[in-house]
Amino acid sequence: MAKLRVATIGCGSIAQVLHLPGYAKNPNVEIVACADPDQRRWSEVQKKFGVDRFYKDYADLLDNEALDAVSICSPNAFHAEQAYVALGLGLHVLCEKPMTLTRKEADILVSAARKAKTVFMVGFSQRFCHGIIEAKKILESGKLGDPFMIRIRFAHEGPYPGWAKDDWFYDPKAAGGGAMLDMGIHAFDLARHLFGDVKKVSASVKTIFKPIKVDDNAVVTLEFKNGALGYVEVGWTSLPGFNGAEIYCRHGNLIIDYTTGMRMISGRQLKSGRHKAVTKTFPFRPNEGGWDIEMDYFIDCIRQGYQAEMDVVAGAEAVKIALAAYESARTSKAVTIK
Ligand SMILES: NC(=O)c1ccc[n+]([C@@H]2O[C@H](COP(=O)([O-])OP(=O)(O)OC[C@H]3O[C@@H](n4cnc5c(N)ncnc54)[C@H](O)[C@@H]3O)[C@@H](O)[C@H]2O)c1
Repeated sequence: MAKLRVATIGCGSIAQVLHLPGYAKNPNVEIVACADPDQRRWSEVQKKFGVDRFYKDYADLLDNEALDAVSICSPNAFHAEQAYVALGLGLHVLCEKPMTLTRKEADILVSAARKAKTVFMVGFSQRFCHGIIEAKKILESGKLGDPFMIRIRFAHEGPYPGWAKDDWFYDPKAAGGGAMLDMGIHAFDLARHLFGDVKKVSASVKTIFKPIKVDDNAVVTLEFKNGALGYVEVGWTSLPGFNGAEIYCRHGNLIIDYTTGMRMISGRQLKSGRHKAVTKTFPFRPNEGGWDIEMDYFIDCIRQGYQAEMDVVAGAEAVKIALAAYESARTSKAVTIK
């Protein structure tokens, strides 16, 4: 099979730290060209990855290069259009999160991806963390009984300075939202992945510390269709603390702490009727995996001809939960997801 010809749209941090290195180390892939309006990114990418064809406008890249797949690594507001155009050309697409900024765009992309019949994957990298993969297996095995509560917390000090190439994350137009959208979207996808579809959302979303026009902290509660409950905390103002997930099931719990490790607490019932807790620790860091696995998975999906698990529907559902959370915060009412 010939090498897959790929390009990235956007050459900033996530392209340089995840997508391009992932493609560069995969023997089945050739990085053909990249698009980014900022020419400072071109020389960085040329130096690091040996790419020598660049375009300012993604449309010129798509017009001029014969490609099999693209990674969309631009600021959030551009994802919907760029993904739509790439799908229209029959390309496989790995689209960074959030997939779109509106429900309408999400629905349009769902139709476009179904029509294109190519691989459409959303960059839900958390699903590739060992702790999450193990948790999914344990939940599916049924050994902990019915899950009834999930808590997810993702927080750090904010994407800029320190991560992103500039401060577009704090611009409501380019980003479409703040910490709630940026970090929450990963949490909402994980919640759906582990517990199933969400029916109702309530949220408090605030800008507590940062002098920015988007939110820097949020708390979101979720009601799942299966009756379980969830809550999500996200923030852009935290030094390291708890990051990860806690899952509570009828006969045991999973504590997936990205910093200190993963443990399963299950119970053995004593004659008295009380439970004796048994704790098992897992021999890996729960956030290992992630980015190391994600890119090979995308390429495998294309080569083996199967759809990515974190597909366009997963992308759309996560967007709908995030938008419901913003609506709930605005109206101070719970919002039902239709
Ligand atoms: N999956 C993850 O864990 C993860 C982590 C970080 C960022 N992301 C996502 O990746 C995307 C990019 O974030 P980043 O951290 O790399 O930001 P960044 O600022 O480092 O890079 C963005 C790049 O896009 C370029 N750009 C601007 N307008 C463009 C356009 N119209 N077309 C193409 N390129 C354009 C900029 O010049 C810049 O080089 C965001 O959607 C973000 O949410 C995902």
